[in-house]
This record gives sequence, C-alpha cells and structure tokens, in this order.
Amino acid sequence: MRKLKNLFENNKRWAERTCKDDPDFFKILSMQQNPEYLWIGCSDSRVPANEIVDLMPGELFVHRNVANVVVHTDHNCLSVMQYAVEVLKVKHIMVVGHYGCGGVQAVLNDAKFGLIDNWLRHVGDVKEKYISKINSMPEKERLDCLIELNVIEQVRNVCRTNIVQEAWQRGQDLTIHGWVYGLANGHLNDLESVVTCADEVIDTYKVAAEKVFTRRT
Ligand code: CO
Repeated sequence: MRKLKNLFENNKRWAERTCKDDPDFFKILSMQQNPEYLWIGCSDSRVPANEIVDLMPGELFVHRNVANVVVHTDHNCLSVMQYAVEVLKVKHIMVVGHYGCGGVQAVLNDAKFGLIDNWLRHVGDVKEKYISKINSMPEKERLDCLIELNVIEQVRNVCRTNIVQEAWQRGQDLTIHGWVYGLANGHLNDLESVVTCADEVIDTYKVAAEKVFTRRT
C-alpha cells in the first residue's frame, strides 16, 4: 500500500475538528511553541504522552525511546534535553516509565531480541545493581520493581547531565520528576523522585530506590 488513505482521512477530520473548536489554533501554534514540560518516556504505543496528561499540541516537548532510558552518550536524547532546557526553558522534565514495559520485561527474563539487547543493557545494569533486593520480592512484584528502579535511575542520569547541572548553576527553575504510568487503569504513579537542585540528587535517588521495596513490604 503506497498511500495510507485511512490515516490521511483521520488527519483531515482531526484538522477540521480542531479548527472548528478554535479557528486560530494552527495559526497561533505555527508561530511559536511554549511548552513547560519535557516528557521522556517509552516508545510503547499504549503510552501516548500528550493524551495521558491531557495537554494540547504545543504544551509538551517529547522524547521517547524503548524503556525510557537516558544515556550520557545518546546525542539524540541529549539534544532534545538541551533544546528543551536552554531554548524552550521548560520548567519540568519527567521521566515516565510504564507498568508492563516489554523492554524491562525482556531484561528481567534475560530474553534476547538482537540489536535492541545492546540498548537494553542499560536497564540490565540497573537490574544487576538491585538483583538481590529484586529477588527478595514476590515474583509478581519483580517487574514493577525493576520498572520503578529504572525510572529512578534515569532521573538521576538526567540530573547528572551537564545540561541540567549548568541550568541549576545559572539559577534556572528546573525540576526533574520520576513517574510510572499504569496501562491497566490510565493513572500516573509519582515515585517521589523529585529533584530541584544539584544538592538533592543523591539523597533523592537513595530514598526513592529504597521506597520501591519498603512500599511493598
Ligand atoms: Co515500555
């Protein structure tokens, strides 16, 4: 199929509906974007960033990859972060994992899928770090634990980038958050992994990681 007719029809309907609700919508949006938030989430098709927090186009800057990983050598993610922080001056960055994440599940089960295994090694490092604690949990809780720990780890990675460190040094108002989205009920779970300045990074990380286990016992 060379033309995805159904999607173009959907698009036309959507554009017309949006214009009907607000005739200047596209005109205003085409001139500027002014989002307050950067969302770093999983690529999973069931986790649509804007819809989940009920925000309109223009209100949320988004980066998504498999298992919402933030790696210090990933120029794609870093470029998104730099533009969001330094040009758009977002006030919040949220790392958003989701329960039932296939990427994290693959790591937990040691499943192999080829090239992507290399990417998921970053989640594998998180698993290795906490393996004894994870194994002390009931089996049905282990995936949720690793999903939450992965988010907390990535929040720390965001905090450690020179982009965020320098923003805080400049006195820029910037808060990093760690959340997990529930596919089964549509609700966001705040992992209390909130960092507002460089001094809070280590303690917040430790407390949030500890809570993953204490909350369940
Ligand atoms: Co996922």
